[in-house]
Amino acid sequence: MGLLGTSVSLLGVLLAVLGYLVWTGVDLGPLNPLAQMVKPYLEKVSTEEPPERLFTTHQLSKYTGKSGSPGLYLGILGKVFDVKKGKKHYGPKGGYSFFAGRDGTRAFVTGDFTEAGLVDNVDGLVPRDLIGIKEWIQMYEKEYKYVGKLIGRYYNDEGNPTKELLDVEDKMKAAHSEKNAEEELKKTFPPCNSMYTKEDGAKVFCSKKSGGIERDWVGVPRKLYKPGSDRYRCACVKNTGPPAGDPGADQHKDRGDLDNPLVKEYDGCASDDTVCRT
Ligand code: HEM
Repeated sequence: MGLLGTSVSLLGVLLAVLGYLVWTGVDLGPLNPLAQMVKPYLEKVSTEEPPERLFTTHQLSKYTGKSGSPGLYLGILGKVFDVKKGKKHYGPKGGYSFFAGRDGTRAFVTGDFTEAGLVDNVDGLVPRDLIGIKEWIQMYEKEYKYVGKLIGRYYNDEGNPTKELLDVEDKMKAAHSEKNAEEELKKTFPPCNSMYTKEDGAKVFCSKKSGGIERDWVGVPRKLYKPGSDRYRCACVKNTGPPAGDPGADQHKDRGDLDNPLVKEYDGCASDDTVCRT
């Protein structure tokens, strides 16, 4: 090695030592101004996010937290999280160790923790399950560190989402909209209370809290049909004031939502009965 090479190496070592000392916050006396100059660069390097990692199924399978493993990771819908913080759950001795080192998306909502159940496909799951998976992902995003993506069903080998992921995400959005619409509908048509006695069989009735919807009216029990279907549920229907769709109406029949076309009376139950047999 020539003189130049030696000097460059020495400079490298000096900078490394200086860097380390700045890093650890040591007072460098006369070298402090130099330390202040390099500090912003060191900070930039240290705060930069590590690049997102792509995992193969095989690579992820090593992250079980067992001794000698490189860490404790799990995947859900192709997103990989470092769950070391939750070692008591996911580590080898934890009750949920089967989630470690793999993407067991489906089991998060089916509760099937067998090998056949711990899989990443969500085919045939109902909208409520897809919402459940989304909520689990949100939990991991909040509580654990996201480390990368799993190449396979949901991400290709360049880390881009696959059509399958985009389809699942669309279904999740649709499931959310459906749930919100149902919740809105529940405010207008709160579910009825129900009771069962041996003598009278099943009965439905309304109260100011039925269906978990607190309100200042009671309403009367009616069948509320699903649009375009012959399926219905019991709803407490407001039977005074303007209809819900037109709350400020000056002129109304003072029948609340009784005239809504999706609302039908129970057979054998008078219009103003507050309890109906089903
Ligand atoms: C589909 C079924 C279930 C799944 C997928 C599931 C999944 C999980 C997961 C992933 C965790 C760890 C959460 C974290 O990282 O903080 C957890 C924690 C826990 N689970 Fe479950 N679980 C299920 C059913 C149950 C049931 C039925 C019970 C009780 C009878 C239960 C009781 C608990 C308890 C007590 C904790 C610990 C909470 C804590 O320490 O913060 N789980 N569960």
